[in-house]
Amino acid sequence: NRIHVFHGVNLHFLGQREPDIYGRITLDEVNGRLIETGQTHGFTVECRQTNYEGELVDWITKLTPSDFLILNPGAWTHTSYALYDAIKGVSVPALEVHLSNIYARESFRSHSVIAGACVGQISGLGTDSYFLALAYALEFQKYRQK
Ligand code: DQA
Repeated sequence: NRIHVFHGVNLHFLGQREPDIYGRITLDEVNGRLIETGQTHGFTVECRQTNYEGELVDWITKLTPSDFLILNPGAWTHTSYALYDAIKGVSVPALEVHLSNIYARESFRSHSVIAGACVGQISGLGTDSYFLALAYALEFQKYRQK
């Protein structure tokens, strides 16, 4: 019953990248806090980032049904039917996360092609989007263990 956090394209330079939109906190800091919060609740949280769509597909399709996935696909959110298919193909609950409010920006961002493969979406709360997703994942995984 692991919890995975996968970050997609361009999230490696969080903190430097458009800080007015995405904030100044780095990905390492976000991951560190996610792992720590998981530990406090007795769960292993595994965080990874890639700029290669096929690598993300590989990671997703290697998950097992008892896992939980928190996913910020970056710009692949708006383009990747491959990610949609990968999530659909594994019976793993996935929660879509965005730092920014994708509905309040450029029009191309207001459609997520992966949303239909996910249990839900959290968008626009900055890094709290991840922490609220983790709070849900922890509840979900605890309930599952019973
Ligand atoms: C993002 C929103 C996407 O539209 C964008 O391409 C990103 C980050 C977010 O977390 O707000 O790379 O997923």
